[in-house]
Amino acid sequence: MYFCLYFVLGLLSSKGCFSADPNPEKVVAFAGENAILPCSLKTSGSDDLPTVEWSKEGLKPNVVFLYRNGFETFEMKNQGFEFRTSLFMREVKNGNVSLRISNLKPSDAGIYQCLIIRRNGSREATDVQLVVAAVSDPKLSVDSDENQRVTVACEATCWLPAPLMEIVDEKGNNITDTVEIQRADLTECYTVRQTATVQSHTAR
Ligand SMILES: *[C@@H]1O[C@H](CO)[C@@H](O)[C@H](O)[C@H]1NC(C)=O
Ligand SMILES: *[C@@H]1O[C@H](CO)[C@@H](O)[C@H](O)[C@H]1NC(C)=O
Ligand SMILES: *[C@@H]1O[C@H](CO)[C@@H](O)[C@H](O)[C@H]1NC(C)=O
Repeated sequence: MYFCLYFVLGLLSSKGCFSADPNPEKVVAFAGENAILPCSLKTSGSDDLPTVEWSKEGLKPNVVFLYRNGFETFEMKNQGFEFRTSLFMREVKNGNVSLRISNLKPSDAGIYQCLIIRRNGSREATDVQLVVAAVSDPKLSVDSDENQRVTVACEATCWLPAPLMEIVDEKGNNITDTVEIQRADLTECYTVRQTATVQSHTAR
Protein backbone atom coordinates (compact mmCIF):
# COMPACT_ATOMS: atom_id res chain seq x y z
CA MET A 1 0.00 0.00 0.00
CA TYR A 2 2.76 2.37 0.99
CA PHE A 3 4.68 1.51 -2.16
CA CYS A 4 1.60 2.07 -4.32
CA LEU A 5 1.04 5.53 -2.94
CA TYR A 6 4.69 6.44 -3.41
CA PHE A 7 4.55 5.28 -7.01
CA VAL A 8 1.51 7.43 -7.80
CA LEU A 9 3.10 10.45 -6.17
CA GLY A 10 6.30 9.77 -8.09
CA LEU A 11 4.39 9.80 -11.38
CA LEU A 12 2.64 13.05 -10.49
CA SER A 13 5.82 14.80 -9.46
CA SER A 14 7.74 13.69 -12.53
CA LYS A 15 4.87 14.96 -14.69
CA GLY A 16 5.24 18.30 -12.95
CA CYS A 17 8.80 18.62 -14.29
CA PHE A 18 7.56 18.53 -17.87
CA SER A 19 6.94 22.20 -18.50
CA ALA A 20 7.84 24.56 -21.32
CA ASP A 21 11.04 26.52 -20.93
CA PRO A 22 10.36 30.28 -21.18
CA ASN A 23 13.87 31.08 -22.47
CA PRO A 24 15.04 28.18 -24.62
CA GLU A 25 18.61 28.10 -25.88
CA LYS A 26 18.79 29.50 -29.41
CA VAL A 27 20.66 27.81 -32.29
CA VAL A 28 21.11 29.66 -35.58
CA ALA A 29 22.03 27.69 -38.73
CA PHE A 30 21.82 28.17 -42.49
CA ALA A 31 19.32 26.50 -44.82
CA GLY A 32 20.92 23.55 -46.62
CA GLU A 33 23.44 23.01 -43.82
CA ASN A 34 23.31 21.07 -40.56
CA ALA A 35 22.27 22.13 -37.07
CA ILE A 36 23.15 20.62 -33.71
CA LEU A 37 20.49 21.08 -31.03
CA PRO A 38 22.17 20.59 -27.64
CA CYS A 39 20.79 18.30 -24.96
CA SER A 40 22.55 16.44 -22.16
CA LEU A 41 21.55 14.16 -19.33
CA LYS A 42 21.96 16.14 -16.15
CA THR A 43 22.83 13.08 -14.10
CA SER A 44 24.41 10.15 -15.89
CA GLY A 45 22.98 6.90 -14.64
CA SER A 46 25.71 4.83 -16.34
CA ASP A 47 24.04 1.42 -16.74
CA ASP A 48 20.58 2.69 -17.69
CA LEU A 49 19.86 3.54 -21.35
CA PRO A 50 17.26 6.29 -21.31
CA THR A 51 14.53 6.89 -23.88
CA VAL A 52 15.17 10.15 -25.73
CA GLU A 53 12.34 11.80 -27.61
CA TRP A 54 13.05 14.87 -29.71
CA SER A 55 9.87 16.61 -30.85
CA LYS A 56 8.96 19.86 -32.55
CA GLU A 57 6.26 22.18 -31.28
CA GLY A 58 3.23 22.43 -33.58
CA LEU A 59 4.33 19.61 -35.90
CA LYS A 60 2.01 16.62 -36.57
CA PRO A 61 3.16 13.99 -35.80
CA ASN A 62 5.59 15.89 -33.62
CA VAL A 63 8.37 13.32 -33.16
CA VAL A 64 11.53 14.06 -35.15
CA PHE A 65 13.75 11.48 -33.44
CA LEU A 66 12.98 8.69 -30.97
CA TYR A 67 15.67 6.64 -29.31
CA ARG A 68 14.58 3.63 -27.26
CA ASN A 69 16.42 0.57 -25.91
CA GLY A 70 19.60 1.69 -27.62
CA PHE A 71 18.14 2.12 -31.12
CA GLU A 72 16.27 4.64 -33.19
CA THR A 73 12.52 3.85 -33.33
CA PHE A 74 10.85 4.95 -36.54
CA GLU A 75 7.07 4.37 -36.17
CA MET A 76 6.21 7.75 -34.71
CA LYS A 77 8.70 9.81 -36.70
CA ASN A 78 7.48 12.71 -38.83
CA GLN A 79 8.20 11.89 -42.49
CA GLY A 80 9.53 15.37 -43.16
CA PHE A 81 12.54 14.44 -41.00
CA GLU A 82 13.19 11.03 -42.53
CA PHE A 83 16.96 10.48 -42.99
CA ARG A 84 17.64 13.98 -41.65
CA THR A 85 17.93 13.50 -37.89
CA SER A 86 20.42 11.57 -35.79
CA LEU A 87 22.11 11.47 -32.39
CA PHE A 88 25.88 11.29 -32.06
CA MET A 89 25.89 7.60 -31.11
CA ARG A 90 29.42 7.68 -29.71
CA GLU A 91 28.39 10.54 -27.41
CA VAL A 92 25.19 8.99 -26.06
CA LYS A 93 27.03 6.90 -23.45
CA ASN A 94 28.54 10.16 -22.14
CA GLY A 95 25.05 11.55 -21.65
CA ASN A 96 25.19 13.75 -24.76
CA VAL A 97 21.93 13.31 -26.67
CA SER A 98 22.26 16.39 -28.90
CA LEU A 99 20.26 16.13 -32.13
CA ARG A 100 21.78 16.68 -35.54
CA ILE A 101 19.39 17.86 -38.27
CA SER A 102 20.88 17.80 -41.74
CA ASN A 103 19.93 19.60 -44.96
CA LEU A 104 18.00 22.29 -43.06
CA LYS A 105 14.85 23.75 -44.59
CA PRO A 106 13.37 27.14 -43.72
CA SER A 107 10.32 25.29 -42.34
CA ASP A 108 12.52 23.50 -39.76
CA ALA A 109 12.67 26.73 -37.73
CA GLY A 110 10.83 26.50 -34.41
CA ILE A 111 10.94 25.16 -30.88
CA TYR A 112 12.21 21.64 -30.30
CA GLN A 113 11.97 19.65 -27.11
CA CYS A 114 14.40 17.03 -25.87
CA LEU A 115 12.61 14.71 -23.45
CA ILE A 116 14.68 12.16 -21.55
CA ILE A 117 12.73 9.37 -19.86
CA ARG A 118 14.67 7.20 -17.41
CA ARG A 119 13.98 3.55 -16.67
CA ASN A 120 12.82 4.68 -13.21
CA GLY A 121 10.24 6.99 -14.82
CA SER A 122 11.97 10.30 -14.14
CA ARG A 123 11.72 12.84 -16.96
CA GLU A 124 13.91 15.77 -17.96
CA ALA A 125 12.80 18.14 -20.72
CA THR A 126 14.86 20.83 -22.43
CA ASP A 127 13.65 23.24 -25.10
CA VAL A 128 15.84 24.56 -27.91
CA GLN A 129 14.86 27.20 -30.45
CA LEU A 130 16.14 26.68 -33.98
CA VAL A 131 16.47 29.73 -36.21
CA VAL A 132 17.10 28.98 -39.88
CA ALA A 133 18.83 31.67 -41.91
CA ALA A 134 19.15 31.83 -45.69
CA VAL A 135 21.09 34.17 -47.97
CA SER A 136 22.04 34.34 -51.64
CA ASP A 137 23.84 36.85 -53.86
CA PRO A 138 21.47 39.62 -54.88
CA LYS A 139 21.12 40.01 -58.66
CA LEU A 140 21.22 43.39 -60.28
CA SER A 141 19.76 44.01 -63.73
CA VAL A 142 19.46 47.12 -65.88
CA ASP A 143 16.85 47.65 -68.63
CA SER A 144 16.23 50.70 -70.75
CA ASP A 145 13.07 51.60 -72.67
CA GLU A 146 12.59 53.58 -75.92
CA ASN A 147 12.39 56.86 -73.97
CA GLN A 148 15.91 56.42 -72.63
CA ARG A 149 14.54 55.66 -69.19
CA VAL A 150 16.52 53.09 -67.29
CA THR A 151 15.04 50.65 -64.80
CA VAL A 152 17.39 49.14 -62.29
CA ALA A 153 16.16 46.01 -60.53
CA CYS A 154 17.73 44.25 -57.60
CA GLU A 155 16.46 40.82 -56.58
CA ALA A 156 17.38 38.81 -53.50
CA THR A 157 16.11 35.24 -53.79
CA CYS A 158 15.23 33.16 -50.72
CA TRP A 159 16.42 35.10 -47.70
CA LEU A 160 15.65 34.49 -44.05
CA PRO A 161 15.01 36.77 -42.35
CA ALA A 162 13.87 39.14 -45.14
CA PRO A 163 16.72 41.41 -46.33
CA LEU A 164 16.68 45.18 -45.97
CA MET A 165 17.50 46.56 -49.42
CA GLU A 166 17.62 50.02 -50.84
CA ILE A 167 18.61 51.33 -54.27
CA VAL A 168 20.50 54.58 -53.81
CA ASP A 169 21.86 57.23 -56.16
CA GLU A 170 25.35 58.77 -56.14
CA LYS A 171 24.47 60.93 -53.17
CA GLY A 172 23.13 58.01 -51.18
CA ASN A 173 19.47 59.03 -51.55
CA ASN A 174 16.95 56.21 -51.55
CA ILE A 175 15.52 56.15 -55.09
CA THR A 176 13.62 52.84 -54.76
CA ASP A 177 10.29 52.99 -56.63
CA THR A 178 8.76 49.58 -56.13
CA VAL A 179 9.20 46.87 -53.53
CA GLU A 180 7.84 43.36 -54.05
CA ILE A 181 8.10 40.79 -51.29
CA GLN A 182 7.15 37.17 -51.96
CA ARG A 183 6.82 34.35 -49.50
CA ALA A 184 5.24 31.03 -50.43
CA ASP A 185 3.89 30.52 -46.91
CA LEU A 186 4.77 31.45 -43.37
CA THR A 187 7.50 28.86 -43.10
CA GLU A 188 9.37 29.68 -46.30
CA CYS A 189 12.07 32.18 -47.22
CA TYR A 190 11.52 35.66 -48.64
CA THR A 191 12.26 36.78 -52.19
CA VAL A 192 12.48 40.54 -52.49
CA ARG A 193 12.66 42.53 -55.73
CA GLN A 194 13.11 46.28 -55.81
CA THR A 195 13.30 48.61 -58.77
CA ALA A 196 14.26 52.20 -59.41
CA THR A 197 13.73 54.14 -62.62
CA VAL A 198 16.17 56.85 -63.62
CA GLN A 199 16.07 59.27 -66.56
CA SER A 200 19.55 58.93 -67.92
CA HIS A 201 22.11 56.27 -68.83
CA THR A 202 24.85 58.16 -67.07
CA ALA A 203 23.25 58.19 -63.62
CA ARG A 204 25.01 56.09 -61.04
C1 LIG B 1 15.96 8.15 -11.50
O1 LIG B 1 17.35 7.99 -11.77
C2 LIG B 1 18.07 9.23 -11.93
C3 LIG B 1 19.51 8.91 -12.34
O2 LIG B 1 19.87 7.61 -12.18
C4 LIG B 1 18.00 10.00 -10.61
O3 LIG B 1 18.69 11.23 -10.75
C5 LIG B 1 16.54 10.26 -10.27
O4 LIG B 1 16.46 10.94 -9.03
C6 LIG B 1 15.76 8.97 -10.23
N1 LIG B 1 14.35 9.33 -10.11
C7 LIG B 1 13.49 8.66 -9.31
C8 LIG B 1 12.07 9.13 -9.34
O5 LIG B 1 13.84 7.73 -8.63
C1 LIG C 1 27.77 16.60 -27.96
O1 LIG C 1 28.33 16.07 -29.13
C2 LIG C 1 28.42 16.96 -30.22
C3 LIG C 1 28.97 16.21 -31.43
O2 LIG C 1 30.19 15.61 -31.16
C4 LIG C 1 29.29 18.16 -29.84
O3 LIG C 1 29.30 19.09 -30.91
C5 LIG C 1 28.73 18.81 -28.58
O4 LIG C 1 29.57 19.86 -28.17
C6 LIG C 1 28.58 17.80 -27.47
N1 LIG C 1 27.94 18.40 -26.31
C7 LIG C 1 28.40 18.31 -25.08
C8 LIG C 1 27.62 19.00 -24.01
O5 LIG C 1 29.43 17.70 -24.83
C1 LIG D 1 13.32 53.38 -49.75
O1 LIG D 1 12.15 53.73 -50.47
C2 LIG D 1 11.18 52.68 -50.61
C3 LIG D 1 10.07 53.13 -51.56
O2 LIG D 1 9.58 54.38 -51.18
C4 LIG D 1 10.64 52.34 -49.22
O3 LIG D 1 9.68 51.30 -49.31
C5 LIG D 1 11.82 51.90 -48.35
O4 LIG D 1 11.36 51.64 -47.02
C6 LIG D 1 12.92 52.96 -48.32
N1 LIG D 1 14.07 52.38 -47.64
C7 LIG D 1 14.65 52.97 -46.58
C8 LIG D 1 15.78 52.25 -45.96
O5 LIG D 1 14.24 54.04 -46.14
